[in-house]
Amino acid sequence: MNTPIRRIALSTGGGDAPGLNAVIRAATLAAVNRGWEVVGIRDGFNGLLLPEQYPQGGLVRLGRDDVRGIVHTGGTILGTMNRGNPIAFPVEHPDGTVTTVDRTAELVSMFKSHGIDALITAGGDGSLTIGYRLHQAGLRVIGVPKTIDNDLVRTEASFGFDTAVAFATECIDRLFSTATSHGRVFVVEVMGRYAGWIALHAGMATGAHAILIPEIPYALQNVAETIRQREERGAKFSIVVVAEGAAPVGGTVTTLPAEAGHAERLGGVGEKVARELHELTGKETRTVVLGHLLRGGSPTSLDRLLGLRFGAAAVRALDAGYEGKMVSLSHAAITLVPLAEVSSRQRVVPLDCDTMLTARDMQISFGD
Ligand code: F6P
Repeated sequence: MNTPIRRIALSTGGGDAPGLNAVIRAATLAAVNRGWEVVGIRDGFNGLLLPEQYPQGGLVRLGRDDVRGIVHTGGTILGTMNRGNPIAFPVEHPDGTVTTVDRTAELVSMFKSHGIDALITAGGDGSLTIGYRLHQAGLRVIGVPKTIDNDLVRTEASFGFDTAVAFATECIDRLFSTATSHGRVFVVEVMGRYAGWIALHAGMATGAHAILIPEIPYALQNVAETIRQREERGAKFSIVVVAEGAAPVGGTVTTLPAEAGHAERLGGVGEKVARELHELTGKETRTVVLGHLLRGGSPTSLDRLLGLRFGAAAVRALDAGYEGKMVSLSHAAITLVPLAEVSSRQRVVPLDCDTMLTARDMQISFGD
């Protein structure tokens, strides 16, 4: 039987994503309103693992005042980190070599010594794997799915994705003016390491003529053929959206120079595709790389809501005694329903839906 929760920690790990601050706000308010204390860990888990780097303290106490006015902001007020994985923590030796050590057990005992009863960790696959290991090592953990790439399993969306797609859509829309005026081919490179969700959604939303994604190895002769056919029909321009993780048939992903302690850095496929399409079609071709612009800015209302709902749901899950789980969005696909069941009826807000529960957790007044 678990001891009652008095103090929880929040951490944000991996690449930042718009909506993280909404998670922090809702989780903090939902916890504080239950009489729990909340602390945020700075920079992933580094606030605990590298205390010498935080003279002001690697843990920051979070109360109502600390999470006011942050829902519309991008990034994370706690800071984040995609190095310093406690499962394989880098240790630099005097001779310059770097080895790794598993600090999971040590981290769990640090949580205990700080009186932290449970952890809510928002992150992508890396951070959720760390969360799972901490849970296996004896910590109560609830994960919150975060990534603009939208490539996490067992949830239909992670926050940050909608904001990234909205911004990519705006950028690609703008490129149509120059593309049509000059009769050019534009290749737009977007993030998407293993999955092409951003490229697919932004490409479809804007009416792009080719979309290259990691899931489908591409042959540029086919894209060139599409461009040629458009030309024959009088459309002198084409828009190609390519995910950073897309690769040619039989080829590999395009990478940037390696950085110590960092996952392989992708980038450059847009330029490569543009060059080869120019050679194949003879058309004037330009590249735009959206890269980290897709991770920035104010979250869309959808991502704010998703972050708030995930944050509050994580607290409710802990309160209900769950651990070793990830909060997840699950909604229906498009189906067919009888018109007879639709006519003359309204769908009102169900008072027990999780958006309402989130609002109640945040003590928003409905005047009742
Ligand atoms: O958030 C995931 C991601 O956007 C990937 O698509 C991309 O490869 C990576 O982040 C880039 O991360 P970094 O900020 O370390 O360059």
